Amino acid sequence: MKIAITGGAGFIGSHVADTYIAAGHEVIIIDNFSSGNKKNIHPQARVVQLDITSPEIDELFKVEQFDILNHHAAQIDVRVSVKSPMFDATQNIIGGLNLYEAAARHGVRKIIFASSGGTVYGDQEEFPASETHPTRPCSPYGIAKLSNEHYLFYYAKQYGVSYVALRYGNVYGPRQNPHGEAGVVAIFVKKMLNGEQPIINGDGLKTRDYVFVGDVARANLLALNDSAQGAYNVGTATETDVTTIFRHLQAIINPDCPEIHGDEKPGEQLRSVISYERIQRELGWMPEVEFMQGLEKTVGYFRG
Ligand SMILES: NC(=O)c1ccc[n+]([C@@H]2O[C@H](COP(=O)([O-])OP(=O)(O)OC[C@H]3O[C@@H](n4cnc5c(N)ncnc54)[C@H](O)[C@@H]3O)[C@@H](O)[C@H]2O)c1
Repeated sequence: MKIAITGGAGFIGSHVADTYIAAGHEVIIIDNFSSGNKKNIHPQARVVQLDITSPEIDELFKVEQFDILNHHAAQIDVRVSVKSPMFDATQNIIGGLNLYEAAARHGVRKIIFASSGGTVYGDQEEFPASETHPTRPCSPYGIAKLSNEHYLFYYAKQYGVSYVALRYGNVYGPRQNPHGEAGVVAIFVKKMLNGEQPIINGDGLKTRDYVFVGDVARANLLALNDSAQGAYNVGTATETDVTTIFRHLQAIINPDCPEIHGDEKPGEQLRSVISYERIQRELGWMPEVEFMQGLEKTVGYFRG
């Protein structure tokens, strides 16, 4: 199949591209390189340097006649969305709509969307949260992810473009950007390897559901199946706190690295963990990479 991957030069999108190419699909990456990197890109992928909000998207979809749109391009920083909800909505809502309009007009059969199980549910009532958990996102970023899912439901009803929304936990692994605020694993690994001091925010007891990027790419492959429809969590149903991650990395990289705690960052969710029961039952997906194994692979990548 001919597949457009937005954000395919980034961390997760580039692994999805590799997995699709390995399965024999034709991949065209659409990326503005705001955080993506040319060295992440598979040599067999074609690259179109373009912003997803651009009016040129329509012409591209018209000329290329993609079968599938896999949408990973986004402004990914929750704190940026809090500081600038308008910027976040322009990238993460308007950018999506621009793609979905082009997809509906030019024969795309299915859209696979990178949603967020860590943010669409908001403060959880159940642990782990299933897809039927109430959705009460607490950030503009989470609101944008959920609104994309609503728009996709609308495009499916109105135009018959089917969709899958993959609600990821906290994705980690090789190629994650160690700068900015997104990935604590990448940030800690890079700092420890550089002999710098990682700082744990507050008590470090906030938990997240850490899922390895290779497992996430495999979920994107299964999402191509006709039977895959609607929203699926992609996580491990396991909670890990930040201090535990620090100690694992200390054991792998540098047992002498002191454990230092800084100020608490206000406003962050205390716990987040998602069930993978639906995607296991319907698509046969389950996480395969154990956390320690995933951390070793990530450290190996950053060691070079
Ligand atoms: N990393 C996680 O833990 C996580 C969790 C849940 C959901 N997601 C979602 O997965 C997707 C990929 O995230 P990632 O961690 O790989 O981030 P990333 O920053 O590595 O990748 C994003 C890619 O999109 C590109 N991009 C950004 N804005 C663009 C625009 N306007 N036009 C064209 N290209 C643009 C960037 O250059 C980059 O290559 C995002 O939608 C993100 O919200 C990530």
